[in-house]
Amino acid sequence: MSRILFIISCFLFVSQSTFINDLEYLTEINNNVVIGIFTQPSDSDYVDYPSSQYSYLAASYVKFVEMAGARVVPIPYEADNSVLEKYFQGINGIIIPGGASELDTPTGPSKFTKAVAYMLNRALQLNDAGQVFPVLGICMGFQTLHYIISGYKTPFLFRVYGENGISHSLENGDRSFALYKDFDDDTYQLIQTNQYFYYSHNWGVSPDLYKKYPSLDTFFQITGTNQDSKGQVFVASMQGKQYPVYGVQYHPEKNIFEWKVSAPHSYLAVKVSANHIDSFINYARQNTNQFNEEQLKKAIIYNFNTVQEKNASFVQVYFFKNGELNL
Ligand SMILES: *[C@@H]1O[C@H](CO)[C@@H](O)[C@H](O)[C@H]1NC(C)=O
Repeated sequence: MSRILFIISCFLFVSQSTFINDLEYLTEINNNVVIGIFTQPSDSDYVDYPSSQYSYLAASYVKFVEMAGARVVPIPYEADNSVLEKYFQGINGIIIPGGASELDTPTGPSKFTKAVAYMLNRALQLNDAGQVFPVLGICMGFQTLHYIISGYKTPFLFRVYGENGISHSLENGDRSFALYKDFDDDTYQLIQTNQYFYYSHNWGVSPDLYKKYPSLDTFFQITGTNQDSKGQVFVASMQGKQYPVYGVQYHPEKNIFEWKVSAPHSYLAVKVSANHIDSFINYARQNTNQFNEEQLKKAIIYNFNTVQEKNASFVQVYFFKNGELNL
């Protein structure tokens, strides 16, 4: 019996030692984290909420952040930089969600991309000044980060097949990926053999893009890949080499909160997804930006109600009238 306990305690020690040594990860200085999540133009299938007048945010991203012990403010993509700056001053990290918005237009980056670029540049400046300000892009958000860091080079995506609602195990994974910090070693093994990562994308980022547009290779390190049904390799996740900027092509929030799609909801799939956001929020705990009380009261997501939009692939959606989120 005592021998078994000894073995178990050794395992605990081994599996935790990786992040006990990571002092940076454990340095919490702010336990009142507020995360900004970008809105995006409403979809043409949401007939009651025309994109000329409304933006939206899927509630799953909000819940995902809240389950990790942080609060959410929606960031209005349509706002001008002076409004975005007020948001930036109050938040401790940004999430750029998935969706189907236009990122590049014939005349250059879209309004959405420009708003994300403003916040990303502010985040990089703060990090350059020695503070931590983490950024996470999911699916379309992951693609947006590539577009911006490439210097708005096009094309930056290629067509992928059989990827609209499919789960993959991790291939060519990097154990040092910041969003895997909370994984114990067993979990890290399991994601390589089990299909927990849920994908819903028609376009992907090729690892070749990092050779074509060298600024990507300078900025990002690829931390995992997958293959579509034609065997084409695409980037599954990446992280900044010098900055806490992270991206996943897959959808960890859907494993826990979306039920209109086939994302795996098993105990381990849910745990793996939760580990992603727990790690991200722990980086945000190192940032000390803070809204004043009046601004936070105005900006916080609690002021808004969700809608069960029939045409959405999301269980619940928030809609915002353009200008409604101006601070
Ligand atoms: C869903 O989309 C269809 C086709 O665009 C449209 O006719 C219908 O009114 C939409 N329903 C809602 C609730 O938006």
